[in-house]
Amino acid sequence: MVYSEARDEGIVAELDVADWRTWPRANPKRFQSKGHGYLWVDVHVAPDAAATYADRDAVPAPGFRVLMAGYDTATATKPTGLTLMAKVSATDWFYAVLGQDGKKATLQGAALPVCTGCHQHAPRTPIFGLAP
Ligand code: HEC
Repeated sequence: MVYSEARDEGIVAELDVADWRTWPRANPKRFQSKGHGYLWVDVHVAPDAAATYADRDAVPAPGFRVLMAGYDTATATKPTGLTLMAKVSATDWFYAVLGQDGKKATLQGAALPVCTGCHQHAPRTPIFGLAP
């Protein structure tokens, strides 16, 4: 799957994350995601979820949202697309591939196989977290 193909066209996103640019960035420096085709990425976590994402022992609560913005290069300012994971109930997660405005989705849903195929094997299922 080539996430950089996720452009702005698409269906209305069920979760509006249009304010994602204001979310704290969890990674110190943009890195190439080996899970996401070595796309350059930044991980942004909703302000109220940042501490939970950083703490490997914390269990995300419903409302927890983390997204990865993908870029063609290490310095590009315009992302090619966003991938989002959100915890929507005590047990359920929601996945989406969004355009850069965070309002339109090219793919979204609960337990999307294209996402869970990897993320169900993540150390803090479904969260991989950043490399130490
Ligand atoms: C081939 C395996 C693979 C697939 C498929 C995959 N991911 Fe990931 N994802 C990863 C890995 C590994 C990371 C951790 C960053 C890294 O090192 O690449 C990650 C990180 C993330 C993050 C940052 C949060 C975290 O886990 O720490 C989000 C958000 C994310 N992926 C969303 C998605 C969505 C949405 C899909 C489906 C459209 C998806 N991913 C499909 C492997 C995958």
